[in-house]
Amino acid sequence: MKKDKIKEHLKKVLKPGRYEHTLGVEYTADCLAMRYGCDMAKADLAGLLHDCAKWIPNKEKVAMCKERKIPFTQVEQENPELLHAKLGAEVAKETYGIEDEEILSAIRWHTTGKPDMTLLEKIIFVADYMEPNRDKAPELDKIRRLAFEDLDQCLIFILKQTLEYLNGKTASCDPMTLETYHYYTKHEVQ
Ligand SMILES: [Fe+2]
Ligand SMILES: [Fe+2]
Repeated sequence: MKKDKIKEHLKKVLKPGRYEHTLGVEYTADCLAMRYGCDMAKADLAGLLHDCAKWIPNKEKVAMCKERKIPFTQVEQENPELLHAKLGAEVAKETYGIEDEEILSAIRWHTTGKPDMTLLEKIIFVADYMEPNRDKAPELDKIRRLAFEDLDQCLIFILKQTLEYLNGKTASCDPMTLETYHYYTKHEVQ
């Protein structure tokens, strides 16, 4: 599907706020791709499509994952909202015709991250957190500056903030977020 058609479709299915967020992630992903020499067309598409499964009702998300034999964890079963990332990669392929595995993987891992991320995966993860419409997370100024100075440090900072927030809420944390955090803090170059 062509980009203008994708946008048209997303505008129809996503809530207005979610669509605005989507455009914000697309824009931020483009900027970070410029800064770090990542393929801009890929960053743009991954940003645009990262939340393409967000509008699907939770029950349907679970059913769709089962149909497609996408494995999910206990935490995801209890919080089907989390499945929009994994499912998003499938929807991007099935509905929007995205075949590029790098783009699909960036969509798949945009909420939890994963160990040993590609540049594109890092860019989408960070862009999702800091795009211009975001205003809830603390220290966004610092995050936005850090994103353009040192992407890995920014990634670590966001993961730490996410884990602290989830602990505070006693909500269940996706084990992959913790795994990603440990991976990057262990591999940190001092
Ligand atoms: Fe998302
Ligand atoms: Fe998002």
